[in-house]
Amino acid sequence: MAHRRSPSYDEDDKSGVYGSHSGIINTRIRLYTLLTVGTILSYMFYGYQSSGFRGYQYQIYGTVEKGQKPIEAAPPAPVTSIVEVDVTKVISTVFTAAPTPVVSSSYWLANIEHRGVAPYHADKEYQVFRNVLEFGAKGDGTTDDTAAINAAISGGDFARCGEKCDSSTISPALVYFPPGRYLVSEPIVAMYYTQLVGNPIDMPILVASKNFKGIAVIDTDPYGAFGKNWYVNQNNFFRAIRNFVIDLTNMDPSEGTGIHHQVAQATSIYNVVFKMHEGVMTKQKGIFMDNGSGGFLSNLKFYGGECGAYFGNQQFTTINLEFHNCKTAIYINWDWVWLLKSIRIYNCGLGIDITSGGPDKLGVGSVLLLDSYVKDTEVAIKTFRHKESNPPAGGTLVMQNLIISGVKTTVLGWNDEEIFGGTDKDRNTTIPFWGHGKGYSDYLPKGDSINVVADETSDAIPAVLKDAKGKILERPRPLYRHISADRFVSVRANGAVGDGKADDTGAIQEIINSHGNVRPGEQKKIIFFDYGIYRVSQTIYVPPNTYIVGEMWSVIMSSGDMFNDAKNPKPVFQVGKSGEEGIVEISDMLFQTQGPAAGAILMEWNRSPQGQNVSGMWDVHFRVGGSRGTNLEPNKCRKNPDAQNHAKIDDDCISAFMLLHIGKTGSLLMENMWLWTSDHDLDDEPNHDQISLYTGRGLLCESQEGPVWMYGHAVEHNVLYNYQLVNTKNIFMGVIQTETPYFQSNPRAREPFPPVPELYDPDFEGACGAADVPQDKIHLCEKSWGLRILNSTDIFTYGAGLYSFFENYSTDCIESRSCQRTMVTIEGDARSEKFPTRSNIWLMGLNTIGTENMARWVKDPEEGELILIRADDGNKNSFSDTVGLILV
Ligand SMILES: *[C@@H]1O[C@H](CO)[C@@H](O)[C@H](O)[C@H]1NC(C)=O
Ligand SMILES: *[C@@H]1O[C@H](CO)[C@@H](O)[C@H](O)[C@H]1NC(C)=O
Ligand SMILES: *[C@@H]1O[C@H](CO)[C@@H](O)[C@H](O)[C@H]1NC(C)=O
Ligand SMILES: *[C@@H]1O[C@H](CO)[C@@H](O)[C@H](O)[C@H]1NC(C)=O
Ligand SMILES: *[C@@H]1O[C@H](CO)[C@@H](O)[C@H](O)[C@H]1NC(C)=O
Repeated sequence: MAHRRSPSYDEDDKSGVYGSHSGIINTRIRLYTLLTVGTILSYMFYGYQSSGFRGYQYQIYGTVEKGQKPIEAAPPAPVTSIVEVDVTKVISTVFTAAPTPVVSSSYWLANIEHRGVAPYHADKEYQVFRNVLEFGAKGDGTTDDTAAINAAISGGDFARCGEKCDSSTISPALVYFPPGRYLVSEPIVAMYYTQLVGNPIDMPILVASKNFKGIAVIDTDPYGAFGKNWYVNQNNFFRAIRNFVIDLTNMDPSEGTGIHHQVAQATSIYNVVFKMHEGVMTKQKGIFMDNGSGGFLSNLKFYGGECGAYFGNQQFTTINLEFHNCKTAIYINWDWVWLLKSIRIYNCGLGIDITSGGPDKLGVGSVLLLDSYVKDTEVAIKTFRHKESNPPAGGTLVMQNLIISGVKTTVLGWNDEEIFGGTDKDRNTTIPFWGHGKGYSDYLPKGDSINVVADETSDAIPAVLKDAKGKILERPRPLYRHISADRFVSVRANGAVGDGKADDTGAIQEIINSHGNVRPGEQKKIIFFDYGIYRVSQTIYVPPNTYIVGEMWSVIMSSGDMFNDAKNPKPVFQVGKSGEEGIVEISDMLFQTQGPAAGAILMEWNRSPQGQNVSGMWDVHFRVGGSRGTNLEPNKCRKNPDAQNHAKIDDDCISAFMLLHIGKTGSLLMENMWLWTSDHDLDDEPNHDQISLYTGRGLLCESQEGPVWMYGHAVEHNVLYNYQLVNTKNIFMGVIQTETPYFQSNPRAREPFPPVPELYDPDFEGACGAADVPQDKIHLCEKSWGLRILNSTDIFTYGAGLYSFFENYSTDCIESRSCQRTMVTIEGDARSEKFPTRSNIWLMGLNTIGTENMARWVKDPEEGELILIRADDGNKNSFSDTVGLILV
């Protein structure tokens, strides 16, 4: 398609956003790029403002038509259709009612018998499930329950992973809070490997007392002496907090925080209401997150506060957050990449503040704002990114489907420059797409400030990925709150042992056969895996219409010869057979292998879609090696960088063939999943040594029609690739995160898994020997792909953090970006049905570390022109390198 210039369609249309003939007719996607250097401060869009714009738009796709159609009224409220708890009801009773006495409730989790066992714990009486009332908490609103709650969590000296432990998988705890008002005067310390779970039907209220002392009502990582954290923030894994109201209004408005959340992967906060003081005096914060490597938050409501949520983390996914009457709804102190999806901000002073660090040292790397709504708030987003701000990619912002109403300025810049205008009160205006950062496409191979204006970009997203209201579909985790305890089938009560030794294959398969595959009209049964480590020696088949929930993270561990033949790989959990339809839901489970396991595919997902009935996995994690019982531990697999290449690979440290395989008919939604081949041991004290494990492949998606959604998703340390999408379409990913194995390129990615053509494995030997790779870079080319997209279309990533921190265990390569040659590859020439000229692949908010080239693709397969997006092409950010948009 021609690359031509056309004058701005705004030039002769100054009527502004409110004029009936502003806007343009959109018959198909159009993408414009504003190119003029120096216009970053004066971008306009649809004539939202009329000052200063003198730029031209480069039209990349489609034709410019102008001036006939007003911007459509906004679509209905971006509210998820499946909401487990109506927190507004809770809040209205909570803040008016007198102290509620403890009431019984029918929540299944409280009523089932608790049979969970922690097989590796020294204390044979060790209790996994703890009800705080049984530890002396009163929940009456007047008794100080701090000590009792903390006793329920810690369960005695050294029973659990507290200060100086750093990490451990042997002492899990699910701490349950019945309905009630729990008065606390000091932090509730959420230790490592803890889930704090309230009753979702009548949510417990944690009330900070008037004289509360400490960092926050719930603290996930206490600061000890000399400011030293209990847990290394980037390694603070495996925790969940859900179903609470946290009330700070008894405290003085000048202090108080709801949750200090300094966490890494496999962590979540879900369904929590924060009640804070309102008004000019308030200094309260709902969430204070100083740093970490997360993570996932969803379904939260914030009332009042200086700051609803104060965020700082490498990467994070946050969805369905609602803010009322906060001075600032969201303050991001620093990040590399952050997805804010379905954010609703009402009546705040400032919506989202990303100015941290100032224009010379922008702390916020990139933010993706999707399907959100800002109402009666003076400024929606405040940024200090401008044409000379530093680092050059700092403050990259992509927003899509943002509805504003009663917002004076949508994007306010340095020196109060209005970058993007606002709209009247009681009038909804939709901003389909707007970007502040750098963009690349076939037509802009050298890249340019995106400031891309793509009207009706949402048209680019296939309907199958969206809900009835036009937002990207979400499906919150099922809590089964209306299902009574008698419909939960305990696996331990039905013959499974869960001690990490017994072979539980037969028992588990039989339970699934009898209680899964619920027929239409039958009452749904939920298969409950009491906490335990369930060793299986053969594939477990999970038929459609099966519901599985774990306790904490109940573990399925593959073991034995069946899973150790790389020539004949076998799934450990096979969800559906090709073409089978029906719902499968899995939550709070963990999958691992007992090594060696060269032929284990931890899960194969074949269940096919059925209308908008969406199957899924929530808080399901894969953890390969690095924990007690896996035989993939430092005694055998300690890192060994001095040994050379093949000689060093110990077959006993081959840890899996593949993590997750989404088959040709597979479709599902995944939320908060961490697919981790361990880089260090979690249990081996005191050093938690680094280990070298070899898992062939991370996630392979071959789903021919999709849809597949990945919210808060990470795949790390796999040999050939972390994510590979082949012959697929209709995929949503945000945020995804990867790390290249620390040992590579010693050995190189070609070892120890020879490429299997049927699985479209990358052929490193061939590809890295090609002419475009310089001799001295070949070993850096032979590194695991962060994301490989093959012959696929209609792929949307809203935030990706793809990192290569090591070369042969040394981090010296990070700064010079010489840990890896290229991170993302797009191959094949599949064209989208909707847009026959392109694949319709949108990579938004792509962040890489340690790699020379962020992405590569071949522009015109016939001419074979290779496009390489270099990290040093003005893409430097605070720590990562960032591109706002790659559109192929
Ligand atoms: C504006 O949009 C919001 C959120 O989508 C919706 O709740 C509200 O009804 C809309 N208001 C008008 C006047 O259309
Ligand atoms: C994490 O944040 C705290 C509080 O701001 C700070 O003191 C600490 O240095 C940070 N740690 C790291 C590793 O960045
Ligand atoms: C969802 O699944 C049920 C059966 O499980 C079926 O009756 C219904 O038609 C499906 N809904 C859609 C929209 O496909
Ligand atoms: C890997 O690093 C070690 C030092 O940690 C060094 O002895 C060894 O020669 C290196 N091997 C390769 C292949 O670079
Ligand atoms: C590419 O995908 C199309 C369908 O989208 C399929 O027909 C074709 O066989 C695929 N090509 C390869 C090389 O797999």
